[in-house]
Order: sequence, then C-alpha cells, then structure tokens
Amino acid sequence: MNALVTQLLEGALNATDRARSKLAENPRARSFVYQIRNRKQFASLRAHDIMLADRVRLDAYEAALRARIRPGDVVVDLGTGTGVLALMAARHARQVHAIEHAPIIEAAKAVARANGVTNIEFHNVHSKAFTLPEPADAIVHEQIGSAVFTEMMVPNIADLRDRVLKPGGQVLPGRIEMFVEPVELRAEHRSPPAWQQRVHGFDFSALRAFAEQQPFDYWYKLYGDLPLERYLTRPEPVVAIDLATARPSDLPNRIAYERPAIADGSLDGFCVYFTARFDDEISFTSAPDAPPTSWQTPFLRVESRPVRAGEIIRLDLRARELANHRTWRWR
Ligand SMILES: C[S@@+](CC[C@H](N)C(=O)[O-])C[C@H]1O[C@@H](n2cnc3c(N)ncnc32)[C@H](O)[C@@H]1O
Repeated sequence: MNALVTQLLEGALNATDRARSKLAENPRARSFVYQIRNRKQFASLRAHDIMLADRVRLDAYEAALRARIRPGDVVVDLGTGTGVLALMAARHARQVHAIEHAPIIEAAKAVARANGVTNIEFHNVHSKAFTLPEPADAIVHEQIGSAVFTEMMVPNIADLRDRVLKPGGQVLPGRIEMFVEPVELRAEHRSPPAWQQRVHGFDFSALRAFAEQQPFDYWYKLYGDLPLERYLTRPEPVVAIDLATARPSDLPNRIAYERPAIADGSLDGFCVYFTARFDDEISFTSAPDAPPTSWQTPFLRVESRPVRAGEIIRLDLRARELANHRTWRWR
C-alpha cells in the first residue's frame, strides 16, 4: 500500500475514534448508540441459540413463573427475543404483552403461532415507547449482561415499572446481586505479565509502562469457562439491586472492600458474576463454580501475588458508569 493511501486510511480511522469518544462523553448519545448496537446484536437468531440452550436459566424462569403468576394476571415481557419467557408466562397468565425492539420479534410471533398460543400480544417497540391501557401485574425480563448491569436493565425496568406496573406488582427476577470475588486460577492457566518475562536472555520489564497505557484492555479478560482454583474470600455481593424500587442512580461508581483471605493461595484477579433472585427459593447464578450458563465470566486481572489465610485482600473498583464495563478501573 502506498504511503498516501496509508496516511488517508489512518486519518479516517483516527477521525472515527475521535467521533466515537465524543459520542461516549454524552449520556444521551451513548444510550442511543447502545440501543442501535443492542438491536443489531439481538436481530440475529444466532444470538438466541445459546440462551435457548441455557436450561439453568430457563428452568429457574419456568419455576418462578409457575409459582408466581396467577390466572387473571397481565404480564409484560421486556425484551422477548424468541418469545421464550412470554410463552412460559402465557401458560399461567390471562394476557402477556411481549415487547421487542429487534426484528427477531417476527420469530417469536411464528413460535407462538406454531404452538397455538393466542394470549400473547407482540409489540415491536423499544420499552420506553411502550404503553399499556391496563396496569400490569408483573414484568418478566432477562437483561443481564456478563458484566451484570451492562444491558441497561436498571433504566429500562425502572422506566417500565413506573409507567405500567400496578402498585405492589412483581418484577421477575426482582433482586440482582453482583459479585466481584478475588480468586486463584488453576496453575496451568496463570501466565506471568509481559514485563516479567525473560526470553532468551532479553528482559521485557520495559513493557510495564505500556500496560498502564491500556488500563482496561490489558487488564480485562472474558472467560467462557473460568479456570477457577479457589475463591480467596467468602463470596458476598458487592451490589444488590431491588428492581421493585431501584433507580439508575442506585448503581454505585465505586466498589471497595477489605476482606480476610479464607485460604493460602495466589491472588490472580477478581471474577465478576451475578445471582438473579425471583424470591427466597428460586434463583440462578453465573458463579464460576455453579452449573454452566450462557453467561461468560469477566476477569479483572491484577499482578499475581501470594496471599496467606487471614491476610486482608482489598478491592478498589471505580466506574464512571457501572453499566459500562469499559469505564471500570481497579486495584
Ligand atoms: C438477553 S435477550 C433475552 C431474550 C429472551 N427474553 C430470552 O430470555 O431468551 C434480551 C432481548 O431484549 C431485547 N431488548 C433489549 N432492550 C430492549 C428494550 N429496551 N426494549 C425492547 N427490547 C429490548 C433485545 O433485542 C433482546 O432480544
């Protein structure tokens, strides 16, 4: 490629990056861009395979809908996708309203038709544009990201709940707990950071400064199956959101704790997961030591260091927005 073409392409890419970071600074523009991306992501049937195959998740929803929906109920399904939660709710409810902003709603309609289910009304709108003539008894939703609050669950539920849910109506699941747990990885999965490497007599310690320049990309890793050796402290939620009352401003910008280690081990990083609770009995979790689900496990790497049982482990995670994991910085 000649130098002029390279220069023009570089200029165009830099302009795109600048436009992207300008957009990211404006909350309204950011939410608009998020909506476009989300619609595109869930338009494809491929995105739904893995969710339909996740029986841990769907068995919990089925048990909760069976236990909590009564025959006269009106239920709203926020983000119906292939319609799976709406179909399960329709078995128990009088009427279900299934909202979906992506074109996948046509697939949900076809599935309902093929199963002879007639008490679901489909609405191809964003939840913020959805209105209902009669108040709803329950909202069912699954807008949980691998990094927990990253699919706009809290603003979307708060908006819909305040406009369409009866006083005392149910949000299913109603309680979302987020965990950020210090862990040791299995030894064969632990690799020293680039700057600790010695390769054929060469010293790479000069790379340390470069990791500082990539405060998110270098330190964040997403695992399909986290190679967990052990938790180093007793798991405890760092954020617990009650969706019956939550406001978007309830999501904290800082998560900090000091906890005693429960075992000797290597502190390799902090893993992020959730538990979604329908009531005291029914819940599901993306915890890495629980049966596998369709969620991945974000891993917040730190420079590995040995810890002794009883030693204090500290986490200090700051987030410009907890709902945007790219803004997270941690020590
Ligand atoms: C994680 S998927 C879950 C799909 C389905 N409920 C399930 O459990 O398999 C979330 C779905 O919600 C849709 N969605 C996300 N935000 C929405 C909103 N604010 N209004 C309408 N649909 C939304 C997405 O397009 C996607 O299909």
